[in-house]
Amino acid sequence: MQAGPAERSAWQRTAAGANLLGADGKLGVTIFEEMTSLAVKHGAINLGQGFPDEDGPAEMMEAARAAILNGANQYAPGQGIPRLREAVAVHQERFYGITLDPWREVIVSTGATEGIAAAVLALAGPGDEVLTFEPFYDSYGAMIALAGAEHVTVPLHAPSFQPHLAELEAAFTPRTRLVIVNNPHNPTGAVFGRDVLARIVELAGKHDAVILTDEVYEHLVFGEPHIPVASLPGAAARTLTISSAGKTFSFTGWKVGWVTGPEELVARVRTIKQFLTYSSGTPFQEAVAQGLDYPDEFFRGIASALEAKRDILAEGLRAAGLDVFMPLGTYFITADAAPLGFDDALDLARRLPELVGVAAIPVSVFCHPEGAERTRSLLRFAFCKKEPLLAEAAARLSRLVDLV
Ligand SMILES: Cc1ncc(COP(=O)(O)O)c(C=O)c1O
Repeated sequence: MQAGPAERSAWQRTAAGANLLGADGKLGVTIFEEMTSLAVKHGAINLGQGFPDEDGPAEMMEAARAAILNGANQYAPGQGIPRLREAVAVHQERFYGITLDPWREVIVSTGATEGIAAAVLALAGPGDEVLTFEPFYDSYGAMIALAGAEHVTVPLHAPSFQPHLAELEAAFTPRTRLVIVNNPHNPTGAVFGRDVLARIVELAGKHDAVILTDEVYEHLVFGEPHIPVASLPGAAARTLTISSAGKTFSFTGWKVGWVTGPEELVARVRTIKQFLTYSSGTPFQEAVAQGLDYPDEFFRGIASALEAKRDILAEGLRAAGLDVFMPLGTYFITADAAPLGFDDALDLARRLPELVGVAAIPVSVFCHPEGAERTRSLLRFAFCKKEPLLAEAAARLSRLVDLV
């Protein structure tokens, strides 16, 4: 007999929430691991995992090195070094006009991942419902399950991957405790419209739910400037915003993130956070504080360099015969393999490294079973790679048309 959710241990709930536990109760490996080993086996270009193949600014690496040499080698304060908290507050004011008290309304976390974990554990528990859009970044499902809460999803619809507002409204219930927004959105690359964000704020207010908004791709946008949820009327008092240095500065391995919002909510997150890692990465915090102070042109440059990469890969995918959903943010492109006759993207993803020498991730792994059905023929490709590598991937992909 299978154990019900209540009898499951925390690891079983977590593994199930992350789609790692099979129906037989056995633990699988993540799709990212599976695709990475297939890529290695077949010498394929790995566009599966989303990490850049170039380091971020040399000055930031120098700042981290200098911090180590200058003795920034012991525990940082639990809430983060003052210089970084101040830099986060200044950044929010400069780009979005959001005013924060760096002492009470900002804490530093071990990447956005720890901020998400601490916030979900702090704010949701058994009997609560947590809303996310679907597809969803895998750590949300895992953390909601670990918290013992119920995961309710609202579908995003191709081609723009915006939610239907009626479906959003219908998903709220009196038990909705937390709404997790991810904007710009991984895996689809969608950027939610102001109307969608405003509706989320309105519905969260009506149901007295907290909004947790994961904005790690805030500077990787290719059209309109990013709109933080917390900047919308009525949002600030119930919104926790999460971001990190990994995507903005191409230092995903440094794992420096931050959580900002009203003092009372940040204090709750901090209570959990201090028993997860307590603190982290003292010298990296110094370097990230420096990076956040860079002039506006630096941040514009990141987006325009990435946009050129997006266009190279999009062209290759189109030439291969896939339907491309052009992303307005992030470094991911979603493409539909159905026009080529591939209805099962999971199967195609498993064959792609051998077929053409490129690895990708099926979008269905970011979904519950119903959502997986809806996204069955979609693949996610990462374009945070050097341009010649993307051009080579595009050339390899174009061979796909001849193989079907
Ligand atoms: C939506 C989203 N949130 C959070 C993270 C993790 O951020 P960090 O590396 O800062 O923990 C990622 C990384 O892929 C992501 O895509």
